[in-house]
Amino acid sequence: MERITVFDTTLRDGEQSPGATMSRAEKVRVARELEGLGVDVIEAGFPASTLQEFQAVQAVAEAVQTCAVAALARATEEDIDRAAAAVTRAERPRIHTFIATSDLHLERKLRITRDACLRRVQQAVRRARTHVADVQFSAEDATRSDPSFLLRVVEVALEAGATTINVPDTVGHAHPAEFGELVGEVRRICPDDVTVSAHCHNDLGLAVANTLAAVEQGARQVEVTVNGIGERAGNAALEEVVMALEVLPRYRDRFRTQVVTRRIYRTSELVSRVTGIRPQPNKAIVGRNAFAHEAGIHQDGVLKDPATYEIMAPDVVGVPERRLVLGKHSGRHAVADRYRALGFDLTEEELARAYHALMELTERKKELHDEDLLAVYYGGTLLDVPKVFRLERLEVRCGTPPARADVTVRMAGERPVSAMGSGDGPIDAAFAALSELVPWHARLERFSLEAAGGGRDAVGEAQLLLRVEGHVFRGRGASTDVVEAAVLAYLNALDKAAHARTLEERALASVQLWGV
Ligand code: KIV
Ligand code: ZN
Repeated sequence: MERITVFDTTLRDGEQSPGATMSRAEKVRVARELEGLGVDVIEAGFPASTLQEFQAVQAVAEAVQTCAVAALARATEEDIDRAAAAVTRAERPRIHTFIATSDLHLERKLRITRDACLRRVQQAVRRARTHVADVQFSAEDATRSDPSFLLRVVEVALEAGATTINVPDTVGHAHPAEFGELVGEVRRICPDDVTVSAHCHNDLGLAVANTLAAVEQGARQVEVTVNGIGERAGNAALEEVVMALEVLPRYRDRFRTQVVTRRIYRTSELVSRVTGIRPQPNKAIVGRNAFAHEAGIHQDGVLKDPATYEIMAPDVVGVPERRLVLGKHSGRHAVADRYRALGFDLTEEELARAYHALMELTERKKELHDEDLLAVYYGGTLLDVPKVFRLERLEVRCGTPPARADVTVRMAGERPVSAMGSGDGPIDAAFAALSELVPWHARLERFSLEAAGGGRDAVGEAQLLLRVEGHVFRGRGASTDVVEAAVLAYLNALDKAAHARTLEERALASVQLWGV
């Protein structure tokens, strides 16, 4: 069996999806989850882009023990030194440097000649090697590059000391047969101890097919993101590539990854909640309907033998059975146990918060399902930041326009303050009232509301992006009352803004960046 290295770029290319920006704490949380999932390399970010990004990559490098942690760098000294500084405390640091190699990018974007490109490749890889032994080089837009120039670039990168050569289909323009051929050519000029990698975008829906074609032609690293999130149409989806290698007879006896497949679903859930990007219902492996059998004939077949219509059992990828778990009389142990079964080991404090919130919920709905536990967890139990803003009272009037809301909020250590707002609907009115109450200028950039589970008593999960004085913060809230869920999400974003300000003030008081 040949080992395939799984290089996860959810925290870098995935984060480039519109609106998917993650805070440092969120990146660390996702990184720990990816480590538990068994990926080999976590690309944590692009440290030269902003100070926050640099610090987030540093935090991931420190948090992760078993995986290599990669930092992305353009082929410049400054970027490479910054990337090196960010991963210096990683157990297994990797620098990933890249430059475009297609004439289109060289002429129109970088405005440099092919020779200048070759010089940049050599300098960049050499510089990266002065910092770390594990250096990955990527030829951006490889699939639209002149193949003979691409091979020359690869030779230069190898001479300079690259240990992984990545072939990106940056704009998702490759055909599987052609991409496989190109990767095969790159493989042929690389020594055995150099890994060839495939990085495919999904603009034509071919990212997974192209990645598998690359594996067939000798790629031994696959670059993927959880749920396939990423720039534009996204990247090859981790769960699809991994399960294709596991399930298809063509691959299953030849290749293996070290991904713990039964953790796929919970990782997908975490990433979708953290980024606010829910997989489409029919998304392979992790979509809501991926294991739902609707047609009578199918249901009949599955009852008689699941293999009739299921190519893998849902529990192989960790999709939980929908179960009634709790009611008013359930104890704390039952709550802790069920969270554990869903993959969450709650701290004492988290358990206390979750239990309290769930018991309150049983006043409004009799039966609690896994969806409710997850909604409560992500919408309030998860201790992502200290609580600064508390909702004391919320009253709304709607039905006859304009809607009105009367909101009272208490900021830590201060007296409660109230305001009235009006708007097109109760949520708009409540947000108008909140904007009167908060000490900063806040603008709503995105808002979504989803029911967790079916039924009229379903918990509503609200997610939003709030721009507070130039920075965007994601907020989440959950409640059977959807207006309250929205208000809690708004306050959660404000808690993050308050937390970020505290960090910023501390950082200004003592600037601590590790030098190289
Ligand atoms: O798509 C791409 O070309 C990239 C590179 C930076 C590897 O993401
Ligand atoms: Zn990419």
